[in-house]
Amino acid sequence: MRIQALPGFRDFYPDTMAIRSHVFGAMRRVALRYGFEEYDGPPLEPLELYTQKSGDEIVAQLYHFRDKGDREVALRPEMTPTLARMVAPKATALKKPIRWFTIPQLFRYERQQRGRLREHFQLNCDLIGETGPLGDAEIVALAIDVMRELGLTAADVRVRMSDRRLLSGILAALGFDAALVPLAFQALDKVGRSEYAGRRQALIDRGVAAEPIARLEALGSIRSFEALELAFPGLALGGELRATFAAIEAMGLGEFLDLDLTIVRGLAYYTGTVFELFDAGRSLRAICGGGRYDHLLAALGGVDMPALGFGMGDVVLTELLKEKGLLPTGGTAADVFIAQVTADDRPFALGLAHQLRDLGFRVEYAIGDQALGKQFRLADARGARVVLVVGPDDRARGEVGVKDLARGIQGAVKLDAVAAELTALGCMRA
Ligand code: HAM
Repeated sequence: MRIQALPGFRDFYPDTMAIRSHVFGAMRRVALRYGFEEYDGPPLEPLELYTQKSGDEIVAQLYHFRDKGDREVALRPEMTPTLARMVAPKATALKKPIRWFTIPQLFRYERQQRGRLREHFQLNCDLIGETGPLGDAEIVALAIDVMRELGLTAADVRVRMSDRRLLSGILAALGFDAALVPLAFQALDKVGRSEYAGRRQALIDRGVAAEPIARLEALGSIRSFEALELAFPGLALGGELRATFAAIEAMGLGEFLDLDLTIVRGLAYYTGTVFELFDAGRSLRAICGGGRYDHLLAALGGVDMPALGFGMGDVVLTELLKEKGLLPTGGTAADVFIAQVTADDRPFALGLAHQLRDLGFRVEYAIGDQALGKQFRLADARGARVVLVVGPDDRARGEVGVKDLARGIQGAVKLDAVAAELTALGCMRA
């Protein structure tokens, strides 16, 4: 019987692990550049952490069970409730604004499809204790800079932004009753997609007339603040969002932004700016989603603090990088292979390998005694750049043989020049 990984769960063999490390490395570098500090929490949480505030969609996807102590527990499907839970008891002691990031593995029992798995990793960056649009701009800019760090441009990725405060204002102007706002948000979220018909029907069933529904639908075609002003003259809507756009433009990142009033976000806790990053071709699902959630800390921890942030998944992002040819090639195996001509060369080869490893080079050698030809074949199979050949004659001269495998060039170098030679041949130090 062969036991396989569960559907929707990935095995990370070294080649895919190298890609994951590349993506995480970029995420971590950019977050640190913005002064964010790394944290983590437990992968298993009390079930009620999610049933209280995350919204029905995510609750329906929970991996949950009763543990041996009779507690209702769930694998974390997202990080934001854990963050709110962790910050709340220490909120007064922590220096504001709190800038925290993490790259947790998350679990959602979803129907497996392109870009959607049952586990994924998500860079979460959250800024807590900041109310103004500059905080929103900081968070969106961070998400954009992760894209840029990975080689993506505004021609590859778009940030679609809206604001639930602005949308609530519009719904009020269209005559939607406050009680119908969640339903109207759900409909707006699906405009232009197959699920829209059902959401539209739900509004009709609750007595909403055709005219406000048509105007709700038309929000999808508003692409600028000028068009918004024309559609709702005199309402002075979207001041915060305009200020956020202006700040991101001042940073030089304006070319990434699109005003898109159909961005609402599925999670229930968002209260202000909401945004999602998509591939420009729109052939993939969202890469990243986030927004302001000013009341979640109060709801989960009794501390009233404004907060906002985003989650950026690794699955869709990696697909896009692959499509654009932006993934690293080559594995992470050793650059340098040390081959020995005779069994007597072993102690010298071990000493050399250790010296080079101390200097940061990635070094491998055949563990058992092997014929020289076989050692070269192993070096080749490993993708080594350079083979250093240790033999009695070279040793007597204080040299080692050097073979550049890619170019097929062979020579000899003095022992004190080996490190410089390896660097010149493109071997990296860890
Ligand atoms: P979310 O929109 O549910 O937000 O997820 C954010 C991103 O995670 C998505 O855009 C997508 O790239 C990725 N993602 C979500 N589910 C899956 C899945 N099943 N398979 C692969 N990738 C997936 C949140 O989770 C919020 N807690 C983000 C946040 C942080 N908001 C404020 N702070």
